[in-house]
Amino acid sequence: MSDHDILIIGSGAAGLTAAITLAEKFKVLVLAKGELSGGSTAWAQGGIAAVLEPGDTFESHIADTMDAGAGLNRRETVEFVVENAPRAIQRLVDFGVPFNVEDDGDLHLTREGGHSHRRIVHVDDATGWAVQEALEKAAETNPNITMLPHMVAIDLITDRHREEPQGGSHVWGAYAFNKASGHVEVFPARATILATGGAGRTYLFSTAPRGATGDGIAMAWRAGCRISNMEFMQFHPTCLYNLEVKNFLITEAVRGEGGHLKLPQGAPDPGYRFMPGFDRRAELAPRDIVARAIDHEIKRLGLDYVHLDISHREPEFVREHFPTIYEKLLGLGIDMTTEPIPVVPAQHYTCGGVLIDLNGKTDLPGLYAAGEVSESGLHGANRLASNSLLECFVFGEAAANHISAHWDGLPEPPDIRAWDESRVTDSDEEVVVHHNWREIRRFMWDYVGIVRTTKRLERAQHRVELLRREVDDYYGNFRVTPDLIELRNLIEVAALIVRSALSRQESRGLHYTTDYPERADEAVDTVLQP
Ligand code: FAD
Ligand code: SIN
Repeated sequence: MSDHDILIIGSGAAGLTAAITLAEKFKVLVLAKGELSGGSTAWAQGGIAAVLEPGDTFESHIADTMDAGAGLNRRETVEFVVENAPRAIQRLVDFGVPFNVEDDGDLHLTREGGHSHRRIVHVDDATGWAVQEALEKAAETNPNITMLPHMVAIDLITDRHREEPQGGSHVWGAYAFNKASGHVEVFPARATILATGGAGRTYLFSTAPRGATGDGIAMAWRAGCRISNMEFMQFHPTCLYNLEVKNFLITEAVRGEGGHLKLPQGAPDPGYRFMPGFDRRAELAPRDIVARAIDHEIKRLGLDYVHLDISHREPEFVREHFPTIYEKLLGLGIDMTTEPIPVVPAQHYTCGGVLIDLNGKTDLPGLYAAGEVSESGLHGANRLASNSLLECFVFGEAAANHISAHWDGLPEPPDIRAWDESRVTDSDEEVVVHHNWREIRRFMWDYVGIVRTTKRLERAQHRVELLRREVDDYYGNFRVTPDLIELRNLIEVAALIVRSALSRQESRGLHYTTDYPERADEAVDTVLQP
């Protein structure tokens, strides 16, 4: 018998929100595969969207979200999240998140692409770190929450893992690899919440942290959940271009506060501001449009990067609004108050994921999901800036509330089989695991990027299948390691992305293919069935 009632896999915004809510009544165990602050949450820069400005309305935030989402959002979900946003922000204020305020004490609101109002609450340009810190503090001091870092969940426990295997699909917790002991442990639970974040590291260049390998999506798929809209991988328009620092984001708020995208030296017209030629909203168009425009200019002119320039604003304003970015760039020899920043698009966010309803429920009894791992219907074909953290808070709480309200219907876990640890590690093969990691990220970048073709997608599919066979072989024969666990998941997720992209015979939001350049009349989700 375990000493916790509920297992949460993930210690970012979604996982910790769920944990703190559940801990009012239950004993909760939270697993993280590295440090507790190792997910994307701590890296978030711009902020969190909510209707707080006088004159702004829920309807306007809903309309902006659905416009960015290219008609594929589920309106019911958008309404649910937008209407709960001001309350979610108040809860964070209560946890002690030190949001920037105006002289009169009101929250300071910044602006980002696709938003028709100032709507983004923030803590300078390092909002995520402040949120992570406050949530971790609230969780650490709660006697009903235990947090175990450095535990890599491998697979969900289902009825086939019982001592007496059965054919059902109930989820009873997870197996996880303990990095300290090198052994796999069983974590049984009456309810399990996946809050494992996104799959950015499927791509060579990504703003996401090293651990964003889509583990939750792959685990849910293997357990029997439907996975939806995986073709919509979001590329952020402005990742720093630097040969040493490969994944440093330059927040969208730089454009929100007046930054311009320009052609660099080497282009026929250096200094030319190109975005107004692509969209009437110029630099503040939704991300898919801005990223595609930059990609177009880079390819058309054979450039390595374009420039993001905010040097026309007062140096004091720039330093005050973007202290983290200013310092980071200064350390790399770039003074953003006097010179432009070289930027390129990079993978940033996973819009698709484990299909959930408004209660965070997945297809499988006992299993919930919240945050970037999930597909709730909020983002549609392209996420609106700063709607992601918001989704984590709203769905983290919704999943917790549903578990709490239906607790009596969740049975005690049965006896679970221990993990088979008889297999051995072969050190030669570990090198191959590293090579395969690199290979998959390279061909996903080359063949399944911002602009796609059927031929390139088919090439990617062929390579994924070859790698899958190789990795299935290691997985079947060798002892698991964290790298092998992640590689297996990367391959699973890459296969889901490519399959979804091939099945969408139109261009919509983040999925743009030259073979089907038009948007179809009807908006239909891609739902993959295991
Ligand atoms: P995460 O915060 O990514 O946490 C995932 C957790 O799951 C981690 O604790 C990890 O250890 C754990 N985990 C994963 N796999 C396993 C496993 N196998 N076993 C055990 N544990 C596991 N969104 C906004 O709304 N506003 C912003 O300003 C913003 N800025 C961003 C800036 C950057 C650089 C990036 C990368 C993203 C940004 N986003 C922003 C997106 C947003 O940060 C994420 O979508 C959000 O934080 C995801 O939170 P999460 O709780 O779902 O997952
Ligand atoms: C950013 O600060 O540009 C990121 C915001 C987001 O991903 O929503």
